[in-house]
Amino acid sequence: MADSKSEIAADARSLKELDAGIVRCRGCRLWERATQAVCGEGGARATVMLVGEQPGDQEDLTGKPFVGPAGKVLDEALEKAGVDRKDVYVTNAVKHFSWEPRGKRRMHKTPAQQEVAACLDWLLGEIRLITPRLIVCLGGTAVRALLGPKVKVLANRGKFFDSEWGPKILVTVHPSSILRVPPEDRAQAFESLVKDLARIRDL
Ligand code: URA
Repeated sequence: MADSKSEIAADARSLKELDAGIVRCRGCRLWERATQAVCGEGGARATVMLVGEQPGDQEDLTGKPFVGPAGKVLDEALEKAGVDRKDVYVTNAVKHFSWEPRGKRRMHKTPAQQEVAACLDWLLGEIRLITPRLIVCLGGTAVRALLGPKVKVLANRGKFFDSEWGPKILVTVHPSSILRVPPEDRAQAFESLVKDLARIRDL
């Protein structure tokens, strides 16, 4: 019977088994302040996997990936790119919400490299079980997890990479970055994200 994180992730025979390991994971300390782990969502036979950074406040509360403001941008961009979210599997590089208190608010905190590394077993487990043809890295944390620190998002967005995990990897920005650009530049930033995501259909 597998009991270490890497054994469970490597041996799980279904997403259900994998997710059962994820919700119990104590591989780093993020679980202590999170409401729950947020597992990936989508069809077990999806040909495309989208990988974000980590759950945000609303994802932490609902237990579902990309349901907050960044998820709304992602949904709109996918729709405009002609990709049905129901056809893709959506997950994160890190499964627990990393945050720090600011007054009464829980402010997003970029996960430390050690936390990303601790969660990689789960992401690789998802890739092994789903066998997507393409993985889309949404932003720097996902890129660092799967392609390493040398690959910079802005210099490589819209490009495909080969990966040691099997599927091709497409790099683009994180949807939340669109919300941070000045309002006058937002439409163009959104269109650039749509253009990158439309490359999913090149497959
Ligand atoms: N940002 C992410 O990277 N993932 C989510 O699930 C939500 C926001």
